[in-house]
Amino acid sequence: MTVNFSQSCEKNKIFILNVLKPLLKNRCHIVEIGSGTGQHARYFAEQLAHITWQSTERTLWISDLSEAISAFNGANLPAPLPLDVSEKEWPIGPCEVIFTANTLHIMSWNNVQQFFTGVANVLQVEGDLFIYGPFNYRGEYTSNSNKDFDQFLKRKAPHSAIRHFEAILALAKLAGLQLVDDYAMPANNRLLHFIRR
Ligand SMILES: C[S@@+](CC[C@H](N)C(=O)[O-])C[C@H]1O[C@@H](n2cnc3c(N)ncnc32)[C@H](O)[C@@H]1O
Repeated sequence: MTVNFSQSCEKNKIFILNVLKPLLKNRCHIVEIGSGTGQHARYFAEQLAHITWQSTERTLWISDLSEAISAFNGANLPAPLPLDVSEKEWPIGPCEVIFTANTLHIMSWNNVQQFFTGVANVLQVEGDLFIYGPFNYRGEYTSNSNKDFDQFLKRKAPHSAIRHFEAILALAKLAGLQLVDDYAMPANNRLLHFIRR
């Protein structure tokens, strides 16, 4: 990530909020993994004032994120925490909700596995996990634009790829997570909602 503004974040944040809002009315603390530019964190913290939105990011990018978060100056938006999913002990938890957007297709498959191990370690029973992004189903792209995007990702970094929904489901199951909803979102994205059982 070398930019501090994401056009796609601006477009998708409203649609994500529409799904999250009713589901989070009784929640008060969320941890976001891979907060990037901080646009989601800032917007959701503003729109969901009853929730403390804890952003996190890899050390490499955390100073950019810290700047974006401190400019917002929201009481429910604490300073970001450094967190790489490959760390054995995440510096958070127990968590009632974990949110991540557009991260699983960027990180390596090994990191995706570590992501689910980390979630299993910190997400409390009956806690929610939300994962936003593109996925393939039954081994197929869901659109030509996702196919092009996957090729673009792989040219940039061979370890990146749109993930297979079924493989994510299998990792989630191992982590004790149950899929409760799979929302179709604009631009061929999905919002997966899991609950830790
Ligand atoms: C495309 S950006 C998405 C940022 C933001 N969530 C969004 O929706 O715009 C991918 C994010 O994944 C994060 N990421 C990649 N590998 C990671 C890892 N091993 N641990 C934690 N975050 C990681 C990157 O640092 C970056 O913030």
